Amino acid sequence: MATGYGYGKVILFGEHFVVHRRPTIASGISRTTVAELRPGTEPGFKIIDNRLAAKDYKDKYIEQQKKSVENMNNLVWGLNFEKTPVEVTLAGDLYCASGVGASAASCVAMARAVSEHFDLGYDDEQINQCGLEGDKAYAKNPSGVDNTCSTYGGLIYFRKGRDEAPNTTDYPILGKPLDILMVSTGITAKTEDALQVVEDKMAAEPELCKEIFDEAEAIVEKAMTALAAGDLPAVGKLMDLNHILLQRMGVNHELLDYLVELCRKNGALGAKMTGGGMGGYMVALFADANARDAAAKMCKSEGYEFISARIG
Ligand code: MEV
Repeated sequence: MATGYGYGKVILFGEHFVVHRRPTIASGISRTTVAELRPGTEPGFKIIDNRLAAKDYKDKYIEQQKKSVENMNNLVWGLNFEKTPVEVTLAGDLYCASGVGASAASCVAMARAVSEHFDLGYDDEQINQCGLEGDKAYAKNPSGVDNTCSTYGGLIYFRKGRDEAPNTTDYPILGKPLDILMVSTGITAKTEDALQVVEDKMAAEPELCKEIFDEAEAIVEKAMTALAAGDLPAVGKLMDLNHILLQRMGVNHELLDYLVELCRKNGALGAKMTGGGMGGYMVALFADANARDAAAKMCKSEGYEFISARIG
């Protein structure tokens, strides 16, 4: 049996704006999707999806999942699964819902398992390329931040490149580790729909959007300084400001806003939606693990799924 893994991710700053070549700060989290691959008994690439997931998450994405395998095979693997069938079981401890990089994690995990089983010897750069091609099935025009976090893990400052200039990835300095809580609304929202909301807004109000995008970029640059200084209250305030920009772009959701407020009332230094939005996860920053765990208890008592993580 061959196995592969892909990390979940959290975007701390700059989602959506990164698709339009503004910088983002994001991190892999220790929760992973794991793919186990065995030779199949029927022709084709069969997926048995045992991941824990939000209601309708798997049903909503079933076609995209098939397409993600097609993309990776057509553009990178070049294998004939009719002749050499495989059966892939997806599992792991990443609770799948919009906003946590579950689609990229599944692509990266499958690519690693395929590479091992067929002895393709892919390095991380090639796995990352597979993750990007696979993720295009879910987001049409992804920035590449999700697959990069899924492949490499760790905290990154990322900017999407152009054809002639590749993506840039830097590694922010962290003065203090970040204790974060990610809470799921349980609402599955398609990233491609959220990307469309942003594109429509850009077409309707280009000047306003440029202003918002400039502010988003300034927030990321200030966040780099605050992260390096270990100034967690400043990082939290910048997360709050980032949330307002995403609300102005129209990709928030009332339940995301509710959870953001709930975390703020329960000790968060700052909170925002994370990822594509319109549902999915939000993320809150706390002064330490005790403060985070107290807020997690409150979210649990209200019935929300959450992920606690320490970055750095
Ligand atoms: C999705 O996790 C993050 C977005 O910025 C899309 C992308 O970067 O590809 C909304």
